[in-house]
Amino acid sequence: MNTTKHLLSLTLGLALLPALPVGAQNLPAPSGATLVLKAGEPGPVINRNIYGQFAEHLGHCIYGGIWVGENSPIPNTRGIRNDVVAALRELHVPNVRWPGGCFADEYHWRDGIGPRAQRFKMINTHWGGVVEDNSFGTHEFMDFCEQIGTEPYICGNVGSGTVQEMMEWIEYMTSDADSPLANLRRKNGHDKPWKVPYLAVGNESWGCGGNMRPEFYADNYRRYNTFVKDYNRSNYHIQRIAGGSNGQDYNWTEVVMDMVPVSQMNGLSLHWYTLPTGDWKKKGSATEFDEAAWFATLRNTLRMDELVTKHSAIMDKRDPEKRVGLVVDEWGTWYDVEPGTNPGFLYQQNTLRDAIVAGLNFHIFHKHADRVAGANIAQMVNVLQTMILTDGPKMALTPTYWVFEMYKVHQGAASLPVELNTPDYVVGGDKIPAVSASASRDAKGKVHLSLVNTNPNQPLTVSCRLEGVGAKTVTGRILTAPAMNARNTFDSPDTVHPVAFTGATLDGATLTVALPAKSVVILEL
Ligand code: AHR
Repeated sequence: MNTTKHLLSLTLGLALLPALPVGAQNLPAPSGATLVLKAGEPGPVINRNIYGQFAEHLGHCIYGGIWVGENSPIPNTRGIRNDVVAALRELHVPNVRWPGGCFADEYHWRDGIGPRAQRFKMINTHWGGVVEDNSFGTHEFMDFCEQIGTEPYICGNVGSGTVQEMMEWIEYMTSDADSPLANLRRKNGHDKPWKVPYLAVGNESWGCGGNMRPEFYADNYRRYNTFVKDYNRSNYHIQRIAGGSNGQDYNWTEVVMDMVPVSQMNGLSLHWYTLPTGDWKKKGSATEFDEAAWFATLRNTLRMDELVTKHSAIMDKRDPEKRVGLVVDEWGTWYDVEPGTNPGFLYQQNTLRDAIVAGLNFHIFHKHADRVAGANIAQMVNVLQTMILTDGPKMALTPTYWVFEMYKVHQGAASLPVELNTPDYVVGGDKIPAVSASASRDAKGKVHLSLVNTNPNQPLTVSCRLEGVGAKTVTGRILTAPAMNARNTFDSPDTVHPVAFTGATLDGATLTVALPAKSVVILEL
């Protein structure tokens, strides 16, 4: 290790810091973290579906964010905006969950096919009470998936839809037979069937999806699932995701796992959102927050580890071979909406804090790669912890987008064990680990190590012993900013943007990382 260089970078890092908040000034300087990366003992593959996304008919996610219509002055391909497609293509999005969310359990797929001018209109009762004209339906969604290079994850309607309706939607989308429904699809302009690899059987059936008891849902799952056919059986089996728990509702998981045979499902979902306050009535602002709210947000995010651990343990009882994946198909921050916006549209800004949240959640999903088979951030455009913000023709990529972009190297890579010894980040008598880390080896043999420093005030040195890596070089990128609430706006779209990271030095099997405060770093070895 080049101590002089290392000390210099630490000193520089401190000199560049803004004045410390009062609560942090008396904190003792934490000693560094140590990390052992055991590349010779690869763990399970990080399912690329962990990097899935979610696009609901909610606010301006679909309308305005993805779909502008063929006659829009905003550059588009068959009505889908080109700038958003180009940005999403960069993320290698593995799957997109659609059409909801709560919306899915009110959605009737036949309303969204055929000539657009003749499509049935409905009221989007959950999200703002606006009129949904169904101009973005199955064909438009499938086109969008093809344009961004992703796979569809369809969420079927159990709450207000019939078994027949779900069965026929699957046939409409996936059958190549000379059948009335496949022929209807052909008549509507799509000759060949689409591939639908993933199907959610309902959404939040404990709440907006029908207020069911787990016993009732489990029976319904068995019934709906029976009629979901694999019309393309020789090519693939539709992975069926049963509707799972609301956060810490462990009874739901117990009951569903008891009542639905493992052979009848491929996944069980889990929804967990990060609220700074934990209070749905006053969640906290996306942009105006102090260090206490920063800390609480990260602490609440880390609860994901406990939830995944406990739900997995319950699943282990019925499924010790881990054939059923835990699919966290809604996660992310949920703040009070931006002042002046429609409360039903869930429009919120996105700051460096959200980037840290994304990094922490990914590390948790990687850690549980043996059980977590997928995850979908809520949501993709203009809603909740979004990737992309749009305003008419303008577009801004959020700090969260950049974490997805930096971390895409982990998709489908083998997880590598990391033994981490980290100082705490302490606020008001409470504490969380200051450093979070995760590593993987990709198909080309490249090892990637991602690091998050949750402490907004203090840089840290992470001293790493690399076992079985054989690295000769280290390169990296970093996402950070001077302010906790730094964000990208339409006028200033590059405030939070990854740049080359020069704070890592390699000396044989010793890697030393000068990790700046409030940062996300990805290293390639
Ligand atoms: O993502 C917003 C909403 O949150 C979804 O529609 C619902 O499933 C969840 O409660």
